Order: sequence, then C-alpha cells, then structure tokens
Amino acid sequence: MNFNGTCRLETPRLILRKFTLNDSQEMFENWASCDEVTKYLTWKAHEDVESTKKFLTSVLKSYDDPKVMNWCIELKELRQVIGSIGTAEINEEMESCEVGYCIGSKWWGRGIMSEALREVIKFLFKKVGMNRIGAYHDIRNFVSGKVMQKCGMRFEGVFREYKKSNSGDKMDVCTYSILRKDLEAMDILKN
Ligand SMILES: CC(C)(COP(=O)(O)OP(=O)(O)OC[C@H]1O[C@@H](n2cnc3c(N)ncnc32)[C@H](O)[C@@H]1OP(=O)(O)O)[C@@H](O)C(=O)NCCC(=O)NCCS
Repeated sequence: MNFNGTCRLETPRLILRKFTLNDSQEMFENWASCDEVTKYLTWKAHEDVESTKKFLTSVLKSYDDPKVMNWCIELKELRQVIGSIGTAEINEEMESCEVGYCIGSKWWGRGIMSEALREVIKFLFKKVGMNRIGAYHDIRNFVSGKVMQKCGMRFEGVFREYKKSNSGDKMDVCTYSILRKDLEAMDILKN
C-alpha cells in the first residue's frame, strides 16, 4: 500500500485538501454547528467555534501519520470550505477502509458529495492501492445511500444496532462497498 497522507485532489467544482486552523470559522458556520447536518452522524453539532478549533487542532496533529486521509471540501466558486470527507477503519492486510462525509445543508442536492466521493474512490484505488472501500449510513439517511450508489458502491445489507448515534442510540445501518475489480466496469471511474 502506498500511504502519502491527505493529498490534494481536485474536481471541476471542488478542491479536496488538508484542513488548516484558518478553516475553523467556515467549518463551524457552514456545517459543524448545524443539527440538521449531524442528525445521522456519530458526533454532535459544535456549540461554539472554540470546539471546532479544538477538533481541527487534533486533525492537524493526526496529519503526521501518512495513513490519515481527512480532507476538507472547498467549493471553488465560493472559496470556502463547505464539508469534509475522509477514511476510517483502514485495514492494511485486507487493503480496505471505510469512507465518511458531510457537507453543509445549503449545498445539498447539487451533486457535490457524489463529485467528491468519486474522486476519493479513484484516489484510494489508483494511488493508495485499496482493494475494498466500504461505507455505511443510518438506515433513515437514504440520501447518503444514493451518493454511494451514484459512485458505484453496491448495497450489501443492513447491520442491526451496529453503530452508536450521537445521542447514544444504537443505529441500524445500511452498508455499501466497492471493490477494485468493480472499478473497470465503472465508466465514471475510468479517467
Ligand atoms: C448525505 C449528503 C452528504 C449528500 O450530499 P449531496 O451533495 O447533497 O449529495 P448529491 O447531491 O451528490 O446527491 C446524491 C443523490 O441524492 C439525491 N438527493 C440529494 N438530496 C436529496 C433529498 N433531500 N431528497 C431526495 N434525494 C436527494 C440527489 O438527487 C442525488 O441523486 P441524483 O443526482 O441521481 O438525483 C448530505 O446530505 C449531508 O452532508 N448530509 C448530512 C451528513 C450525512 O448524513 N453524511 C453521511 C453520513 S453516512
């Protein structure tokens, strides 16, 4: 496997890059403070920008590890960060990982996360050498499943009471994955 940390990626509308502490205010205002965004996530909305700064301080430290891939999503037209996408549960032996993502509600429904996830999937297969990329969503959060489907991920099933929600409830989650061998069949991933 070839881990080079959070490499800068670019799509027609987006720049995916490392966070900096200067992103704190935009992160707080654009998505991290919003209960609507965190409704189905494992973390609670930040109450003040200090919480966002503290969170980003730990993210910056984590970048010392080349296996950490945690991007902020910058919308080129706005020159602001509007969300994030990253990996978790990296398993080197299995060449696998999970992906997770979120963006501010102002930008929902414009194909932005599908654009970001497609680029991240390409990067993980082609540059990092992953064989399997998985993702899951709370069973009620069907829009997230649509993003996964649009990026060529396949529905695998429902894991009952598998993850804790941000209010401590056990969530049923839908799981999806894409394998390296699926890649060639996907026109959208060829370039
Ligand atoms: C889930 C989330 C990332 C989707 O991001 P997005 O940029 O709006 O997604 P896209 O625009 O790429 O949409 C993907 C598909 O879902 C559809 N969709 C988007 N919002 C929708 C809505 N409110 N209702 C129905 N369908 C919707 C889109 O139409 C698109 O399908 P289509 O292009 O074939 O029509 C975003 O809603 C979000 O950040 N939610 C909060 C955090 C979260 O839930 N993260 C995922 C945790 S698993």
